[in-house]
Amino acid sequence: MDTILVRGNGPLNGEIEIAGAKNACLTLMPATLLTDEPLTLTNAPRLSDIRTMTELLRSLGAEVADLQDGRVLALSSHALSSHRADYDIVRKMRASILVLGPMLARDGQAIVSLPGGCAIGARPVDLHLRALEAMGAELDLRDGYVHAKAPMGGLRGAVIEFPLVSVGATENALLAATLARGTTVLKNAAREPEIVDLARCLRRMGAQIEGEGTGTITIQGVDRLSGATHPVVTDRIELGTYMLAPAICGGEVTCLGGRIELVESFCETLDQAGISVTESDRGLTVSRKNGRVNAVNVVTEPFPGFPTDLQAQMMALLCTADGVSELEETIFENRFMHAPELARMGARIEVHGGHARVTGVDRLRGAPVMATDLRASVSLILAGLAAEGETIVSRVYHLDRGYEKVVRKLRGVGADIERIKEQPAHGE
Ligand code: EPZ
Repeated sequence: MDTILVRGNGPLNGEIEIAGAKNACLTLMPATLLTDEPLTLTNAPRLSDIRTMTELLRSLGAEVADLQDGRVLALSSHALSSHRADYDIVRKMRASILVLGPMLARDGQAIVSLPGGCAIGARPVDLHLRALEAMGAELDLRDGYVHAKAPMGGLRGAVIEFPLVSVGATENALLAATLARGTTVLKNAAREPEIVDLARCLRRMGAQIEGEGTGTITIQGVDRLSGATHPVVTDRIELGTYMLAPAICGGEVTCLGGRIELVESFCETLDQAGISVTESDRGLTVSRKNGRVNAVNVVTEPFPGFPTDLQAQMMALLCTADGVSELEETIFENRFMHAPELARMGARIEVHGGHARVTGVDRLRGAPVMATDLRASVSLILAGLAAEGETIVSRVYHLDRGYEKVVRKLRGVGADIERIKEQPAHGE
């Protein structure tokens, strides 16, 4: 397996281009299953998770072509040749469950493997299933699969109140409701920018949707959807990650394409930590206000709160802040696995359940560390950029799921980072 070698070498300066959002693209791609006309997504990120979704959609009979070196995805689902999302693909990527709603809405049937747990938590899909049941679907859980059927005449609109905010369940219900008969109201819906982007794309396809970005989304079902061309929204998590690079190392970096509205609560926390963020029409420029980083407290929350997907990276910053920071993770039950790895680099972190207390130290020291999930892996790279000596991050395949060209982007602002390809075994 490849590793990434990072050597701390001082301030970073320059510009980093932020890609289209992985988590938006992964929910936009299944929208192809709702129409027999072409759907074109521009500004797509080039990531292994996008390739996994491509593989899944192709296994259902959709055509997916990547054009312009993967920046543009041309999708088309004339007729589906299968309604079964296999465990082999679903286990690789939980977002695979997002094909369930669209298949059920269009063809009245779907068989989708249950994703199972993952490194950051149990992550059940009960809310996705309950929403589809409320729309009349009959679900049968057998052999690790959800066997779903729509009632005669198709899914019907319903008032669905989610007991907790779920991005994925909101997306699945929104996708399905576009073709349901009558009106669907999603209450306590997720408000993430990826949901807003999905609603905009679906509207371009002819869906009738109101209220995206608020807690109540209303969808008036239509008989059919048409094709569309839609640009994927900027990746706010990639944005926040690279904003932390100059915060951790010093220097000044402009994240091209970044907008404050995507990362507002994160920017408020950065401000308290002594990091300046300025917005221009090119993007967000980040630097330290006075050379120091202050300890801050962070509580992860659904949007517009501080994103769980930036908690690990924020912790990397706070490892060398002045004072004691408290982090509370409220979204996933096991999302501090980077803490013991950061401790290997000299960080002082105590974790108790969903709380972590970080006592700032003067300097981190490079060490061999292991990535446990996507955001944890990039937090170790950020920490390594500011550490004394060499950090070697292993299991970097996690990184490939969500960060395109991370080595090139960070080298572009002066980081000393390289990817070391696994040597083929002798005789291969
Ligand atoms: C999305 O996951 C993102 N993934 C995650 O990004 C992100 O961390 C998460 O939203 C929260 O922002 C994609 O968009 C592909 P949820 P999702 O449903 O939709 C519980 C990354 O690093 N829950 O909002 O799966 C769940 O266990 C990733 O890019 C249920 O109990 O998250 C969690 O505690 C990781 N039942 C909470 O809700 C359900 O049916 C929020 O999860 C669904 C969720």
